[in-house]
Amino acid sequence: MILMVGNTKGGVGKTTLAVQLAIGRARQGRQVWLVDADTQGTASMSIAERTLGPGIACSSYIEPKTLRSQVKQQLAGYDDVVIDVGGRDNGVLRTALMLTDVALVPFAPMSFDLWAMHNMAKAVSDVNGERDGLRVFAVMNQAEPRENSVDNAEAASAVREIPEFEYLDLPIRKRKAFSVASSQGMGVHETTPPDPKAVAELDRLLAAVFVLEEV
Ligand SMILES: Nc1ncnc2c1ncn2[C@@H]1O[C@H](COP(=O)(O)OP(=O)(O)OP(=O)(O)O)[C@@H](O)[C@H]1O
Ligand SMILES: [Mg+2]
Repeated sequence: MILMVGNTKGGVGKTTLAVQLAIGRARQGRQVWLVDADTQGTASMSIAERTLGPGIACSSYIEPKTLRSQVKQQLAGYDDVVIDVGGRDNGVLRTALMLTDVALVPFAPMSFDLWAMHNMAKAVSDVNGERDGLRVFAVMNQAEPRENSVDNAEAASAVREIPEFEYLDLPIRKRKAFSVASSQGMGVHETTPPDPKAVAELDRLLAAVFVLEEV
């Protein structure tokens, strides 16, 4: 299956979730290819730090044409492809939306992120005019750790209103484990000791986004 992690907004946690989901899938025995489609190259840098097995194949394509042709050519060699895009509405984002089976759109419970969700919804709506079968999930990332956070609740209800997204009520909270593990090319399952809350959140997200078993 192809999963794209994208948002027109920067800094929402796209790369963090792309790396964590890619490693999570590889640990389930899947052959995973992480495609870094952001000029910043953060996903590639993370995977370059990885010393543990299982290995994750990682490539960088920052031109829409190359991204499209390489993903189409190499798709059959992998069980799962995870595409991390940069935080802009550009040709790469639109190309990834055309290619992917599922798009995951992270956002933080903050005003600027919520406003930007409407830009991302517009990109999704445009692409839906050109293809069928795209599933787009919105998920809160960097959620406030408190269970009854008003910020989380208000942000969730704002995003639930946007018809282009299927809202996943599986928040990934602000936890050091996510940033520390990702910067070392590790999944949150792999740190010593693992943070059980981060692991539980990631496991729930893995089960929800990889809804199609076949590539
Ligand atoms: N759930 C989380 N808990 C704690 N820190 C997080 C979490 N998600 C992301 N971060 C941190 O927030 C920052 C931005 O995350 P990340 O680089 O993944 O965002 P991005 O959307 O890929 O950004 P860009 O648009 O620049 O590509 C990083 O420092 C990362 O470690
Ligand atoms: Mg990124």
